[in-house]
Formats: sequence, C-alpha cells, structure tokens
Amino acid sequence: MWARGHSVPFHCGDPLMNILARFRRSVAHRGLGKTLLHMPRAALRPLVLAVRTRQSASRARRLGHTEERLLLHLGSGTERLTGWINVDLYFPAELCLDLTRPLPIPDACADAIYSQHFIEHIEKEAAVRLIGECARVLKPGGWLRITTPDLEAHAREYLDEVEAGTADAFNAAMRAHDHIYLYDFPTLAGIFAEAGLVEVVKAQPQVSRCSLLNDLESRLVSSERQAALNLIVEGRRPVAISDAPPADPS
Ligand SMILES: C[S@@+](CC[C@H](N)C(=O)[O-])C[C@H]1O[C@@H](n2cnc3c(N)ncnc32)[C@H](O)[C@@H]1O
Repeated sequence: MWARGHSVPFHCGDPLMNILARFRRSVAHRGLGKTLLHMPRAALRPLVLAVRTRQSASRARRLGHTEERLLLHLGSGTERLTGWINVDLYFPAELCLDLTRPLPIPDACADAIYSQHFIEHIEKEAAVRLIGECARVLKPGGWLRITTPDLEAHAREYLDEVEAGTADAFNAAMRAHDHIYLYDFPTLAGIFAEAGLVEVVKAQPQVSRCSLLNDLESRLVSSERQAALNLIVEGRRPVAISDAPPADPS
C-alpha cells in the first residue's frame, strides 16, 4: 500500500496503469480518505503528471483540426506566449508533454514553432529527434526558430579574458540550470538541414523572416552581452519538392 519511502513497483510498461492499480488496491483495502491521507506527495506527483500527459496527448492529436493558425512554443516553462500553444513537461503549459518522446501531433499542422532556452536541457540525440519531429509537424513553408546559449560565443568570451573568475562564467554556461549540451551554429544548423529544413540561418534577436516569429526573445533584452551569448537559428519546411534540399549523392 502507500507507505512513505516505498517506491511504486512497476509491473507493466504503462506507469499510469501501475499507479492506478496500486491506488485502487489501496482504496479497496483502507478506503479513499485514508489512501489520500497516507499517499506520499512523491507518489501523487507522477500520478498527476501521467494523467496530464495522457490528456495532453489526446488534445495534441486533435490539433490542426480546429485552429486556423497553429503556433507551438516548446519548453515554455513560465514564459508563456499568448496566442500560442505552450508545451512543457509541467504546468502552466497548455500541453504537458515529454518533448524527448515522439510528438502526438499530426503531420503538417503547425504554422510556426518556437523554442527558447530549452534544447540545451535535453540530450543531443533527443534534440535531433525533436527537430525532426518539428519538421514533420510544420506545414510546408512553416518556420522553426530555436534560441539557445551559443557555445562558440561563450568559449570566445572565456578565451578573450582568461583570468580569475572567468572560468566560473564558462562553467556556468556549460552546466548551470541542468544544461546538458550547448550548440554552436554549424552543429545546430546541421541538425536543421538533416531534418530537411531549408534557408537555415543564424538570426538576430527579435527579427525573423517569418512575421509570426518576430519579437519573441524575452530572455535577451537585458544587455547587449547577454544577447551576444545566444544563438538563434531558424529555418523553414520546404513548400514543394523543387524547394527541398538536393538529395545526398552518397
Ligand atoms: C530553462 S527552462 C526555459 C523555460 C522558458 N523557455 C524560458 O525561456 O524561460 C527549460 C524548460 O524546459 C522544460 N523541459 C525540460 N525537459 C523537458 C522535456 N523532456 N519535455 C518538456 N519540457 C521539458 C522544463 O520544464 C523548463 O520549463
């Protein structure tokens, strides 16, 4: 039953089913009131998350059928964008999804996708998969824009002034806030191109070739130095086959 410090045994592949089975057993044994009273917070959190993720997945599958214009903001955290579907693991996102997993969103339904200071928090392999998923979910001609700390800019800033204290800033950029992988332009642009996106460029803060993606960088406005330490890459899904990148001859 629910006891503090006990982990939930997973008997089948679906965590939600396992948690619900355990919850039902406990209610049958000691009643609903006592179950809720004794349920550790740690057990409640995955249950709430699993329920929200499941509801979000079913909502995500219907996207594109109702909205005229669909804008997706990935890894939104507390920086919610009005008029956008904010997607994150946690509340207050409208869609609670694990973005390292395949997106339960239909093909070719989004007009634009934006993400700010998120991909550095997941493994590179997961980011490659996610950008591939973005290319699938974008409408032909739709744009993807990603803002993330710039590995090259941070490295240059460190090398330009190697003295006491500058190692702290470089280490913080690499590892603080659970950063996992930092990108430079060639690496991130290569992933965009690999996903089939075209017109991939390093963009300036607040300025995009897609009008839907102007004025979105809320984190870069504090100083010029902060802005310079960020990498912004954008590219679009080809409109037609003739617009697509040439096939790799190898
Ligand atoms: C540093 S915050 C950035 C939030 C916001 N974009 C901003 O600029 O303030 C990173 C966000 O990524 C979310 N996140 C981390 N891993 C995730 C995952 N696997 N799936 C969905 N969201 C995730 C976190 O919950 C957090 O809100």
